[in-house]
Amino acid sequence: MFSDKRRHFLKQAVTAGIACSANSFLKPLAFTQSSTNSGDVARIYVDSRRTIAPLDRNMFGSFLEHLGRAIYEGIYDPGSSLADSAGFRKDVMEEVRQLRVPIIRYPGGNFVSGYNWLDGVGPRKDRPRILDKAWNTIDTNQFGTNEFMAWSKIVGSKPLMGLNLGTGTAERAAALVEYCNIEKGTKWSDLRRTHGVEQPHAVKHWCLGNEMDGPWQIGHMTATEYGLKAQDAARQMRAVDPSLELIACGSSGPGMPTYLEWDREVLEQCYQYVDALSLHRYIGNTQEETGGDSAKFLAMNLSMEQQIAETLAVCDLVRGHKRSPKKLWLSFDEWNVWYRARSGDAMNGHESEAPHLLEEVYNLEDALLVGGIVNTLVRNADRIKIACLAQLVNVIAPLVTNANGVLRQTIYYPYSWALQFARGNVLNLLVESPTYEVSGIGQVPYLDVTGTLNPEDGKVSMFILNRDLNKAHMAEINWQDRAPNSVLNSTVLTGGDLKAFNSFEAPQRVVPQPADKPSTGGGRTKLELPARSYTAIQWAS
Ligand code: AHR
Repeated sequence: MFSDKRRHFLKQAVTAGIACSANSFLKPLAFTQSSTNSGDVARIYVDSRRTIAPLDRNMFGSFLEHLGRAIYEGIYDPGSSLADSAGFRKDVMEEVRQLRVPIIRYPGGNFVSGYNWLDGVGPRKDRPRILDKAWNTIDTNQFGTNEFMAWSKIVGSKPLMGLNLGTGTAERAAALVEYCNIEKGTKWSDLRRTHGVEQPHAVKHWCLGNEMDGPWQIGHMTATEYGLKAQDAARQMRAVDPSLELIACGSSGPGMPTYLEWDREVLEQCYQYVDALSLHRYIGNTQEETGGDSAKFLAMNLSMEQQIAETLAVCDLVRGHKRSPKKLWLSFDEWNVWYRARSGDAMNGHESEAPHLLEEVYNLEDALLVGGIVNTLVRNADRIKIACLAQLVNVIAPLVTNANGVLRQTIYYPYSWALQFARGNVLNLLVESPTYEVSGIGQVPYLDVTGTLNPEDGKVSMFILNRDLNKAHMAEINWQDRAPNSVLNSTVLTGGDLKAFNSFEAPQRVVPQPADKPSTGGGRTKLELPARSYTAIQWAS
């Protein structure tokens, strides 16, 4: 089936070590992301028969925490002229609805580990003002579980509920499941009904705590203690509703001293009782991480790819220990760029309501890396079923509010393209790209590519990051079995200034531009990718 030239390329992919970046160590090496130094033209081979997995749209989820202005002044602002009768910001709902975010994690994050969900239900006048100890902030509890469910329904998202396994007990976690998912006739379901909500919320996905490996976490404990607590919670919760999908807390990042060992010990305790393990990752263009080198920063999604591979290796190791037929999936339930608003007052609410916390301003290079991260997640669609861009509004977010409206930050665009165009099956592409050397990583391909093919309508979508800061690159797409007809959409995010950002005063500084719609002939398409760019292109079948 392969020509001699093709075999040569595949061999190169096998021998290229780290330069066979991206998914090469996860997948069979044929048809994978590879790199060559030869020539300037990149080649992308597409064979519609070679796919990685169907894409679960929950891969493009997001996150809303009781933190800063995410909830209060973000999605809920009853004093605002932009709010509806329930206090929900209409402009924000419209943005989220348009994005079609499939799943949203709530209510934390670090916040959840000290949260008593009973404070946030029932008559609003009776709800206590509490001092949240994760962010040193006053929470009025005027927005709670039922408000979140109502809001999610309006914007068309499903909830990914976080549970307090810090100060909270397994019994109280199971009580929340009963409150949310049982129709009537039990203590907690009847309580919900007295709160005016007759129909159960039918929440399927639950996070068993948050970052319990972190010494900053309220109720932080050892891996074995947490694993046992997660097991207990899972058993009690499943007694209430056996249909739940449960996610145990994995390591909160590869920088943790207990990285992977935490994951292994946790899973030794609770493997049989859960469906998935979580990962978190925030990337910064800091002295420590990248030396402030943008070329390295744009390669950092590959280090996330390594984190995914290592975490899966641990899941599968424990699977072997347990002789279990069950394969866990991953919930990458917090990911983003985050490094500027990460210390001092940006992290401390000083006992005020809705303080400006973690209000990271995103620039062009952040958006390009977010595009690269989307590519990494998509390439791992065989094991990642949920992933959440952390977060959605105001707090390290693509959307920012002020009293008069909502702003799209740069990172909004690659995220929105994933939601708009990535559909169906993930293609197992072979990518041959010129490379550059990155300290600590090795040879990195200039072009980072992923793609999907929707079997329902035959549309092919491709997402291409050009990491070259100075030069455009030509890509030749070789359609191996069937070539597409015409380009439906082609759009690119690029610009001369990697540090450019949007603001309420200049909201259009970094916005997508229409890109070339190249024709296809003889089974080939030639496409030019500008320097410093992220491109989404979609073809009709
Ligand atoms: O998303 C912000 C914070 O980052 C979350 O609360 C926590 O889980 C993580 O450390």
